[in-house]
Amino acid sequence: MKKIIALLLSALMVMSLFAGCGKKDDGGKASDGDGEKGTIGVCIYKFDDAFMTTYRNSLEEILKGKGYKVSVVDGNNDQAKQNEQINTFISQGVQALIINPVMTSAADQIISTVKDAGIPTVLINREPTAEQMAAYDKLVYVGCDAAQSGTFQGELILDTANKGDINGDGKVSYIMIQGDPENIDAQLRTEYSVKALKDAGVEVEQLNLTRGDWDRNRGQEIAANDLAQFGDQIEVIFCNNDDMAIGALQAIQAAGRKVNEDIYLVGVDALDAALNEVKNGNMTGTVLNDAVGQATEAVNQMEKLLSGTTYSEGNQSVYVPYVKVTPDNVGDFMS
Ligand code: GAL
Repeated sequence: MKKIIALLLSALMVMSLFAGCGKKDDGGKASDGDGEKGTIGVCIYKFDDAFMTTYRNSLEEILKGKGYKVSVVDGNNDQAKQNEQINTFISQGVQALIINPVMTSAADQIISTVKDAGIPTVLINREPTAEQMAAYDKLVYVGCDAAQSGTFQGELILDTANKGDINGDGKVSYIMIQGDPENIDAQLRTEYSVKALKDAGVEVEQLNLTRGDWDRNRGQEIAANDLAQFGDQIEVIFCNNDDMAIGALQAIQAAGRKVNEDIYLVGVDALDAALNEVKNGNMTGTVLNDAVGQATEAVNQMEKLLSGTTYSEGNQSVYVPYVKVTPDNVGDFMS
């Protein structure tokens, strides 16, 4: 009998928990309380970004698959425009927001806007500081540990026959093609790729570092200029992402150089194009930036927020692991 009463009591507690959540978290008119799901507003920093295209398509598919209505908007790399889009979503009464900020420096503004509106929010791809996020307990960041991807890039070079020192002069001479330097992914990949070499006791020489803003054409232009200027001195081209690496590969080929024979080339993201080049030996390696995994986790965290979970400082970042991609395991990532 005692057992039955205990069971009944716990069932009641669970039911009241859910009832509480429903009232607390329906985000206004978007959820009607009878199980129908509301609209989720998704803000992407710009649609014209190869990696974020895979990511947003995946987000949309997962959300729709779960029965949400989804509105995905293009910030056109313009923070003022994205701020307006966030305000519009709020006035439309969306149930939750998933935001890929245009500028990391806009985090405070974005967080205070969603906090004032009381909208559960998942930030993605551009990580604010823990202190910034602590301002709002219905806010969580989903992304990856950017330092890890840099370390993996360095390890890809360390794993080559001559640890990157193709000409045997005792040091690895490289150029760095950087993403948007305002982005922590660009900062940490730049730092940690080289740090991995130094930590392994390898001497390094930076011939050039240029911002390519994650863009394929910029990657091609920068690599072409550097190859013209530094020629055979360049042993490694580090690119903060694959799209720039694919551009750099075009320049490498145009200069008559051969990846893995007289130059090494690494990227991050594991875009389909890069996986093909790793397979064909035209890229030394890349690092999986798991768009599907992050989209899945972003939706999972959004649903946790919707069911009443709150966060406090220090536990507001959820990381999806990066994975090193080499010719040996590239098949595992190709569809
Ligand atoms: C990075 C990704 C880049 C670019 C950037 C946008 O994580 O590796 O390719 O999409 O995010 O912020």
